[in-house]
Amino acid sequence: MTATRAPKLGERVVAPFGRRSCEITRNLASGGYRIFSALDAAGPEPAAGQFYMLAAESGWGADMGRPYLARAFSVADAERQAGGVRLDFLAQAIGPGTDRLASLEPGDRLWITGPLGRPFAAPADVSPDAAGAILVGGGIGVAPLAIWRRQLRRAGIPARVLLGFRDRENSGGLDLFDCSEIRLASDDGHTGHRGFVTDLLAVLLEGDDVQSAAVYACGPPAMLEVVRTLCADRGVACELAMEAPMACGYGACFGCAIPTSDGGYMRLCVDGPVVRGEEIQTALVPGSGH
Ligand SMILES: Cc1cc2nc3c(=O)[nH]c(=O)nc-3n(C[C@H](O)[C@H](O)[C@H](O)COP(=O)(O)OP(=O)(O)OC[C@H]3O[C@@H](n4cnc5c(N)ncnc54)[C@H](O)[C@@H]3O)c2cc1C
Ligand code: FES
Repeated sequence: MTATRAPKLGERVVAPFGRRSCEITRNLASGGYRIFSALDAAGPEPAAGQFYMLAAESGWGADMGRPYLARAFSVADAERQAGGVRLDFLAQAIGPGTDRLASLEPGDRLWITGPLGRPFAAPADVSPDAAGAILVGGGIGVAPLAIWRRQLRRAGIPARVLLGFRDRENSGGLDLFDCSEIRLASDDGHTGHRGFVTDLLAVLLEGDDVQSAAVYACGPPAMLEVVRTLCADRGVACELAMEAPMACGYGACFGCAIPTSDGGYMRLCVDGPVVRGEEIQTALVPGSGH
């Protein structure tokens, strides 16, 4: 897999029809999060930034009917191996759906739909001057950056990684990054720079060579909005992997519509979740972030 397979801007990605049943192959703690893996026997390899709609085959639609709908999850890593594609997901348990997914055990079965949505594009496709990447992740938003880091490395594209977490409990996923050169920030100072990860980005963007990089970010809406405005001020191209409440994941319910900079709307599940900074009015999407 290379880092250059992303579709052109405005192009949509077609996923295999229907949902597939996968076997859970592992579930382990990663800081305050869980990493669980599923073997997708029939699906294609996903691209970084894409997501799947996930639902456990048992214990779904349980007490009071929740969780009922499948939940959107970014793919955090993927590897073709004997029997199919191993898909890794990073879970932060914050409600009935994520609680159930985080508790899946090896041998359990998982329904998946995907890979869905527009992935990250290579730096040179985001900006003609960009030869490298700066990855900025916040909280559970580090998930899609882990697979992107790996794909960039395979393509020989240099990347600097900045990750920020609220506190020890709301942090994890570092095991998914195949590099030691990560700069960390934490709101409570338990690791790395005490403050926001965007403080680290602001310093990097002061550099003279900054136009030679594209910025890729995923995290809470407030973090993404700071990334978007910092990049706009410095004339640096950026892609943001965004979240919105997603009931279907494939364009049918319009629950994920967000305003675009040209006065219209886009459905994040089919026109995103990765968007260019200049495509949107704001990253402060109502109802998203946790
Ligand atoms: C494209 C995409 C990729 C995602 N990737 C991951 C991932 O890799 N790992 C992960 O743990 N989570 C991820 N999420 C978020 C995850 O889908 C939601 O946290 C989940 O749907 C919540 O379901 P629940 O039943 O656990 O909690 P609910 O009871 O449904 O929600 C609990 C709280 O979370 C908020 N919330 C619900 N849905 C979302 C949402 N889509 N975005 C932000 N806040 C929400 C609600 O406002 C509520 O306050 C992703 C979401 C999207 C749209
Ligand atoms: S989640 Fe249903 S249209 Fe996007």
